[in-house]
Amino acid sequence: MIRIGLDGILPFLETETPDTAAAVEALRTLKAGNGAGSDFLGWLRLPETYDRAEFARIEAAGRRVREHAQAFVVIGIGGSYLGARAALELLCSPRHNEAKTAGPAIYFIGNGISADDIAEVLDLVRGKELYVNVISKSGTTLEPALAFRIFRAYLEETYGKEGARARILCTTDRARGVLKGIADREGYETFVIPDDVGGRYSVLTPVGLLPMAAAGIDISRVMAGAAAQMAESLAETAENPSVIYAAARQALYRKGKKVEVLSYPGENTRFLAEWWKQLYGESEGKQGLGIFPASCELTADLHSLGQYIQDGERMLQETILRFAQSARRVKVPRVEADEDGLNYVADRDYDEIFACAAEGIRRAHISGGVPCMELVADRPDEETFGALVYFFEAACGISGYMQGVNPFDQPGVEEYKKNMFALLGRK
Ligand code: PA5
Repeated sequence: MIRIGLDGILPFLETETPDTAAAVEALRTLKAGNGAGSDFLGWLRLPETYDRAEFARIEAAGRRVREHAQAFVVIGIGGSYLGARAALELLCSPRHNEAKTAGPAIYFIGNGISADDIAEVLDLVRGKELYVNVISKSGTTLEPALAFRIFRAYLEETYGKEGARARILCTTDRARGVLKGIADREGYETFVIPDDVGGRYSVLTPVGLLPMAAAGIDISRVMAGAAAQMAESLAETAENPSVIYAAARQALYRKGKKVEVLSYPGENTRFLAEWWKQLYGESEGKQGLGIFPASCELTADLHSLGQYIQDGERMLQETILRFAQSARRVKVPRVEADEDGLNYVADRDYDEIFACAAEGIRRAHISGGVPCMELVADRPDEETFGALVYFFEAACGISGYMQGVNPFDQPGVEEYKKNMFALLGRK
């Protein structure tokens, strides 16, 4: 369940109240499938309609990887990368490879064009029993295609063609694309990204689910959390949290708050914020419009971005995401000598200290002229992850329609590719 606090934005809105009626109307358009980009609404009912047979294959592949692999390389970029990493870091650890007690070390690559990154991951997996999951819906994206060429060659050199075949898992389109062609010719096991689910809405398909399963995450619980949230986020009421969030951020946008800072509670949530930035940036930033999505790690970034948020140009709206409870309990020890003067927090739980920090931050930013909305999720577990994914996806579709854009295309992404391919001399 996700609770929303609007107290911190109301003073900034004056007459511009969140238009929940328009948000419910946008939700109706989404559900009716008669808005822009309606070919890409497969995500909307996915927690209910997902392919059970494919799901069972994902679980089986995840088990196989966990049993046999010492290293698992996940190749993908953008929507074919961020959701899986968000899940891994939130539900396992941002330091998964050191913290894990079973299963393979997991490396993400093909999410950029850095020689140092790819060379390092190759060094790290050399000599280890390696499985690779290449993820690309189009099958033509340069960054993952290059990485796959390198890791496929490595697997074939190391294990031979047959051995490589057993260790390569492809997640791609049902029928189209270069990757699908290679997978069919080579006999690699493939997992299907449904035609009607775009990259940034694909975390609850094999794109996110297979790496999650390989990390030992219970993906049935993720889907159950998403399904529960779906029931709430598709309700055509002014109490629907996705409706409220979309309406509130759009109201602030109309008041000139053009940058939304998603503040989040620590390292394990960093990639959830990265995923959120991609979801909202690609969905809304078009036709000269859109709220720019930025993020701030609490409290680390208050020692870097904090000055700007408190005192810089007043174009910011802040959304503070936190969990009602952390997954683990840490208490501050009491020390008799109290040399550091910290006994005033002795015996208190870290969560209690964070809650005071978050409230202190909220009050400070409001007094500095930044409207602050609060999103409070339960503890960071599988159900919560599924719920957050669905909550943000539904709100993004609603918010995009409220803004009058197609939230399911990304025409702007093509521009850099055209230049890059021309410079590289592609025919
Ligand atoms: O959201 C999107 O559609 C994009 O971010 C894609 O996920 C990204 O460009 C990767 O595309 P592909 O999966 O086709 O390689």
